Amino acid sequence: MKGKFYIDNAYRIAETDDRLFGSFIEHLGRAVYGGIYEPGHPAADARGFRKDVLDLVRELDVPVVRYPGGNYVSGFNWEDSVGPQEKRPRRLDLAWRSLEPNTFGLDEFMKWTKAAGTSPMLAINLGTRGIDAARNLVEYCNHPGGSYWSDLRQSHGVESPYGIKLWCLGNEMDGPWQIGHKTADEYGKLANEAAKVLKYFDPSLELVVSGSSNNQMPTFPAWEATVLEESYDAVDYLSLHSYYGNRDNDLGNFLGCSQGMDDFIKSVVSTCDFVKAKKRSKKTINLSFDEWNVWFRSTFPDPAIEAWKVGPALIEDTYTFEDALVVGSLLITLLKNADRVKIACLAQLVNVIAPIMTENGGPAWRQTIFYPFLHASKYGRGTVLDVRSESPLYPTKQFGEVPYLDAVAVASQRTGGVSLFAVNRSQDERLELEGRLGGFQGLKVVEHLEMTHRNVKAVNSASKPNEVMPVTASGKARVDGDRLTATLEPLSWNVIRLAP
Ligand code: AHR
Repeated sequence: MKGKFYIDNAYRIAETDDRLFGSFIEHLGRAVYGGIYEPGHPAADARGFRKDVLDLVRELDVPVVRYPGGNYVSGFNWEDSVGPQEKRPRRLDLAWRSLEPNTFGLDEFMKWTKAAGTSPMLAINLGTRGIDAARNLVEYCNHPGGSYWSDLRQSHGVESPYGIKLWCLGNEMDGPWQIGHKTADEYGKLANEAAKVLKYFDPSLELVVSGSSNNQMPTFPAWEATVLEESYDAVDYLSLHSYYGNRDNDLGNFLGCSQGMDDFIKSVVSTCDFVKAKKRSKKTINLSFDEWNVWFRSTFPDPAIEAWKVGPALIEDTYTFEDALVVGSLLITLLKNADRVKIACLAQLVNVIAPIMTENGGPAWRQTIFYPFLHASKYGRGTVLDVRSESPLYPTKQFGEVPYLDAVAVASQRTGGVSLFAVNRSQDERLELEGRLGGFQGLKVVEHLEMTHRNVKAVNSASKPNEVMPVTASGKARVDGDRLTATLEPLSWNVIRLAP
């Protein structure tokens, strides 16, 4: 099969915001306890942070990590999670029916973000709590000293303020499962008031208001419109959440789900701009896709897992090679929408529907989905170009006709190079790609990373951590002048890096 693409360095979508490659740690299952934090583990440092996990997080170069939830945040008392560990209360976490010892809390998370080379995106509780807790929390975190909450932080040994810039106003408040679930009107008003106090404290804070839990919610997209009508002037981003899956074991359809993500983004952009027009506003609300991934194997509650335990093995999906292809396609979609999607968080980071897995007391390893995320984070920062591509289409159950070729290109204005990310969705045919590279000088192929596998259900595990991983393809991509040719294997993820 043949595929074509055209790029020109002058035809640009946007500069990427680094935060497009963010992730998420929730107090859920073994994300924290047994994941990033396991005192006594042979690889743990004096603070209990697993260094093997820190190495993998640093490898992914995740610029921002959302914390502490998720559903967990809607019952979270932030005061429980700071100060002397021995004085912290053990609480029942009703969202995940677990026992929360609070031995890892906000103070530890902030230390962990430094060790991991990342920055926080802190969610506030708008379920059981509200404006009062939000204003106290921001004072604890960000005020230098000389006030009640900032002095308390200093008494906990944290002299300098944390300086947390990015805040989420609650989580999935449209969902009936959420503790303190609200109507759009109730949530919009509360989010607006919470946003006001955060901005009174510091107008430079960036605030994310909660959109729908997914685009199948009966209240989508009226939820977004109502919430924004209440809070437009006080907030900066609107959140989107979506998880994709291969429930019917229909691979063609599953590979098309990035089309669903694209449609979702476009609908939310339209809704934001509708409210902008209605308000005669000059301000544009951008998007924070702060929960996205493949997630369909595990469910909650899981009858096999006992409630009220610390760090139960909840929603630990083992990812297959086909999941990695889909994650690659979803990353391509996020990049293509980089003009409006400024923040995105792969949900989640460790053990819980995550690219990094651990065993308690044992090793840490990379799941299949680790690799496309790594590649996009490493080579996908720069100027996203407007790729025009052509390839045959195939029909899908849910997403209409989908092209076999899914591709995006990101240029570096600094080096004059360009990276092409491409998925061949065909299950049996190679795709012979022919591209035109306008506006670049003397490009050569530096590297062609390729991920394929004879078994779409192949996985990585503690005993076989390298079953699915990328290789460097040789001789499959070449440049002659402004012409690129490349062979994309059936069912493959490809990163073709070009530089002068
Ligand atoms: O990421 C797991 C859960 O999915 C989050 O807690 C919640 O926000 C979403 O429904």
